[in-house]
Amino acid sequence: MLSFSLPDGDRLPALGLGTWKSAPGAVYGAVKEALAIGYRHIDCAPAYQNEPEVGKAIAETIASGMVSRQDLWLTSKLWNNAHAPAQVQPALEQTLADLRIDSLDLYLIHWPVAFKPGVFFPRKSEDYIALEDLPIIATWKALEDCVAKGLVRHIGVCNFSVAKLEALCGQATIRPAMNQIELHPYLQQGPTLDFCRENGILVTAYSPLGSGDRPAGMKKSSEPTLLDNPVVQQVATKHGATPAQVLLAWGLSRKTVVIPKSVNPERLGQNLAAAHLELDAQDIADIAMLDRGYRFVDGSFFTGPGSPYTLKNIWDE
Ligand code: A2P
Repeated sequence: MLSFSLPDGDRLPALGLGTWKSAPGAVYGAVKEALAIGYRHIDCAPAYQNEPEVGKAIAETIASGMVSRQDLWLTSKLWNNAHAPAQVQPALEQTLADLRIDSLDLYLIHWPVAFKPGVFFPRKSEDYIALEDLPIIATWKALEDCVAKGLVRHIGVCNFSVAKLEALCGQATIRPAMNQIELHPYLQQGPTLDFCRENGILVTAYSPLGSGDRPAGMKKSSEPTLLDNPVVQQVATKHGATPAQVLLAWGLSRKTVVIPKSVNPERLGQNLAAAHLELDAQDIADIAMLDRGYRFVDGSFFTGPGSPYTLKNIWDE
């Protein structure tokens, strides 16, 4: 399994299983199948509302003797309602209980957006906390304490702009090991990738296949479909591969971790095999032309009336 190195020399499998949008009833089978065919990295989050089922599948697979805990890389994320320092460790401990493990390999701040404790998804202005009132560094210090306590080995962030990463790196004792961001040929994230490379921060590409199964409320009326893109299809035909494999191989070629979601056994296998597909310079050049700064997950669901969050202050663009 292809793996990438973290600054401390630890390595994580470069291709992991995404679990966002995997229904509780389907994710159990998907994780079991994924582990059986060789996935060793699972990307989780309590916000996906399926960690207990993921944990059951992991625990049963470990109990069967097929894998040991040490063979696995398990990532989860702090949800927006637990940024207050006193909430961080309890949130992490809930995830550990749900995943049925003693410690995580990686714990990420899910969004640079905070809600009041107990709010799963905000409906009104009072549900939010502005970052001015609950700065990321306060949350980060609590995450650092969780590392010291052995509850998690590495910590990082998701959806962070270069400006937010710079601010965090300037204040942190433990620098973020990872920035997990939306990344695919329509949103190639060049400047963020450069900053992360220069600062020893690995990048994970989420929605690498274009996240076509997002809920209708999160979709715009005329969205481009990544898997149907003619250039992606042409490269796939040239290599006797599928468009999904091209998208994943492209992400891996840029040294970004990719976490495609699937609950389908055939597609799980197809996606894992993408690590063996090598794109050539012409493919890379053709795909480079597809960048259009397009976000499928643009954060607008956090910017309703009365919210302190705007697309501008989430992305700093
Ligand atoms: P399914 O779970 O039925 O396989 P993303 O990882 O960007 O969020 O994309 C997930 C979406 O892509 C899901 O709808 C998933 O469906 C689909 N998908 C996963 N793997 C493939 C593949 N190899 N070919 C086509 N679609 C795929």
